[in-house]
Amino acid sequence: MKKISLAVIPGDGIGQEVVPLSLKVLDHLAALHGGVKFEYNHFDYGCDYYLKHGNMMAEDGIDRLGQSDSVFLGAVGDAGKVPDHISLWGLLIKIRREFQQELNVRPARVFEGVKSPLSNPKDFDLIVVRENSEGEYSEVGGRIFQEENEIAIQNSIFSRRATSQAVNYAFELAKTRRGSVTSATKSNGIFHAMPFWDEVFNDVSKKYPETLASSQHIDALAASFVTHPERYDVIVASNLFGDILTDIGAAIMGSIGIAPSANLNMNGKHPSMFEPVHGSAPDITGKGTANPVGQIWTAKMLLDHHGLEELGDVLLNAVEQVFKKGIMTPDIGGTSSTEEVVSAIISEIK
Ligand code: NAI
Ligand code: MG
Repeated sequence: MKKISLAVIPGDGIGQEVVPLSLKVLDHLAALHGGVKFEYNHFDYGCDYYLKHGNMMAEDGIDRLGQSDSVFLGAVGDAGKVPDHISLWGLLIKIRREFQQELNVRPARVFEGVKSPLSNPKDFDLIVVRENSEGEYSEVGGRIFQEENEIAIQNSIFSRRATSQAVNYAFELAKTRRGSVTSATKSNGIFHAMPFWDEVFNDVSKKYPETLASSQHIDALAASFVTHPERYDVIVASNLFGDILTDIGAAIMGSIGIAPSANLNMNGKHPSMFEPVHGSAPDITGKGTANPVGQIWTAKMLLDHHGLEELGDVLLNAVEQVFKKGIMTPDIGGTSSTEEVVSAIISEIK
């Protein structure tokens, strides 16, 4: 029997609705498979935890989470209770950094039956590989002077190691897909970091002569995600550009509620983390209408990561069937509740 231990953090808002239901799906899959068992270590870290303890997680929280094989997270953030920069940096971003989850992988594709806001969505199926540890999201910088003289300085960090790691991963991934990698750049506007990014991309691309490599400026690329998403296979992007592109990817799928994401630790020293792209959605929390598919597709990425690709495919196939039947939550035009969608997915898994 193969055992996979998961540190489960539902977090805030709809995270507490979609995570427990997704565990039911995982248990159903494990029962079907027979040779695998999931062990859950539950953690109540989040904004309510902060109100009680003054921190988003226990002091030794990272050590505790690190005892599991992977982290399965819902969403973090409840601005009414804790300012967003405190909650996100105290839990989500802390985990990504401490566990050296240097890549964030986010797929987007069309699903039959789900209405995309695009009037004529072609058959798109793309994956964004986002550098997840440095780039524009850094704490380096500061503020000086006051009032009208105040100055804020924010530095970006681009290391050759992390940049080439992201680019290499993208090229390896493209080999298993349609063999094309697009680099998101902005070397016409960002003077130092992006010409460096382009250099690394060009160096790595030489190792992959069979792969189609191209670069596109992020503004044009963002527009093209809307007008021609079917042109893309694997896209590699810096932290900020990848963040923005993946929200567009989620939007053109029909809802951010569908989009999954994997935060990968590449050195094998710490767990990877699987979470949906969406946040805690305070506007729909408690209504029972949160789309569970982002969390469930994230579970598929977790299964793939642990070598259970067959189960992962069974799971995504069940989601496809349920969408085809029109069983979906209101964000993508349906009338079903979170629980009804999850039950339908479970009955579809045979
Ligand atoms: P959000 O993703 O929570 O919500 C944006 C919009 O999408 C809302 O209208 C929401 O109702 C809808 N939505 C999101 N997930 C949905 C789902 N599963 N089903 C149906 N509709 C869904 O982003 P927002 O509103 O900017 O942030 C809310 C809170 O979440 C903030 O505290 C923010 O900091 C946090 N956040 C956390 C993230 C994370 O934990 N990874 C990512 C993004 C935001
Ligand atoms: Mg985002």
